Amino acid sequence: MLNLAILISGRGSNMEALLRSIDEGQIRNVRPKVVVSNRSDSPGLNLAAQKFGVSTYVLSKGKDKTLSFDDELVQVLDEFGVRPKTGVICLAGFMRILSPRLVQRYTMRILNIHPSLLPAFPGLHAQRQALKYGAKVSGCTIHFVDNGVDTGPIIMQRAISIFDSDTEESLSQRILEIEHKLYPEALRLFSEGNLKIDGRRISLID
Ligand code: GAR
Repeated sequence: MLNLAILISGRGSNMEALLRSIDEGQIRNVRPKVVVSNRSDSPGLNLAAQKFGVSTYVLSKGKDKTLSFDDELVQVLDEFGVRPKTGVICLAGFMRILSPRLVQRYTMRILNIHPSLLPAFPGLHAQRQALKYGAKVSGCTIHFVDNGVDTGPIIMQRAISIFDSDTEESLSQRILEIEHKLYPEALRLFSEGNLKIDGRRISLID
């Protein structure tokens, strides 16, 4: 069993997709331990607690002046049993960069979802970037987190067409629908030890 922490900053619809897949038994080897947000007003926090009965925690720099943001996060992860060798961390719309120290502590155990086909359109507003660029396809990417911004080894990607009529909202919505399918699938494969990692290249073990 892997102990899971999900880090969010807002709505938490990807968090919900992950928790639902665990609840419904599609992911069997993962136990959700805590949902952490860097914002106390994240709607995802209530969802996690009320719909799924998962513990929640709000990180705030000001809470304990002797701790940095990442120290506090490490402390929370430890407290909830999400440890470097037996835990997994899913970033689900978490809009903060983690420190190299934390990324190293959880090497290849932090997953992120990004709403574009990386390496295209990293960073903020990926859907807006794709539209502005005039791209004809976009999609979503699940990748391991390394020290760059959206640069870690890619686990899975799914593409969709961009239509002439698309707005940022319509494109975001269609990408979100595939995000909700792909993220649980990636977590399931990871949790079952079905990912073969060879440098940056990740393949599926049958
Ligand atoms: C999702 O579209 C996710 O891919 C994106 O934020 C949204 C969060 O929605 N993440 C990033 O842009 C990270 N760079 P959610 O809170 O409903 O899951």
